[in-house]
Amino acid sequence: MRKIIFVTGNKGKFAEVRDILASRGIEVTQNKNGYPEYQEDELEPIAAHGAQYVANKLNVPAMVDDSGIFIKALNGFPGPYSRYVEDNLGNLKVLKLMEEEEDRTAYFKTVIGYCEPGKEPLVFPGVVEGKIAYEERGTGGFGYDPIFEYQGKTFGELGDAEKNKVSHRFRAIDKFLEWIDSQA
Ligand code: IMP
Repeated sequence: MRKIIFVTGNKGKFAEVRDILASRGIEVTQNKNGYPEYQEDELEPIAAHGAQYVANKLNVPAMVDDSGIFIKALNGFPGPYSRYVEDNLGNLKVLKLMEEEEDRTAYFKTVIGYCEPGKEPLVFPGVVEGKIAYEERGTGGFGYDPIFEYQGKTFGELGDAEKNKVSHRFRAIDKFLEWIDSQA
């Protein structure tokens, strides 16, 4: 069985990645030691540098996940700054910023970074489009899930199993798995 170290301090992300990859026979172990996050306007270089740093430091194949929510009416904010905004403002303040906005269009993006020791890092992006709700709904998921509406339900209302079938993270991992299969 293939084994991968997934470096994240985020319980919600780890549970999702573990469940999605377990269904494909890949065992994922969580490592919470972190990695330097370069301040960039795009998620791809952050994920690439992170995966390479960890693979070379631990000398094992390593995966990281850099994600964000991009809100059209706010010109893509908070995007790569999503964690900072969640930690310092939170969903209610984001909703407040959106109070006057009729265009609720938003997307979640995950970039999976993967690297084997001594090799170049690879990145696998996944996107899901939806809308910013008018209030928080649902208790499932984590982070921005209660304010992100996908086909009428927020990710918070959808439940983990359903979210994992359509999410940005699922789509990114699906691309990673296609690459794994192409290497076999
Ligand atoms: P980072 O990728 O760890 O920098 O996370 C970016 C921010 O987006 C954090 O505040 C996460 O909680 C949030 N986030 C990442 N993925 C998801 C998701 O699937 N649902 C809701 N929030 C998410």
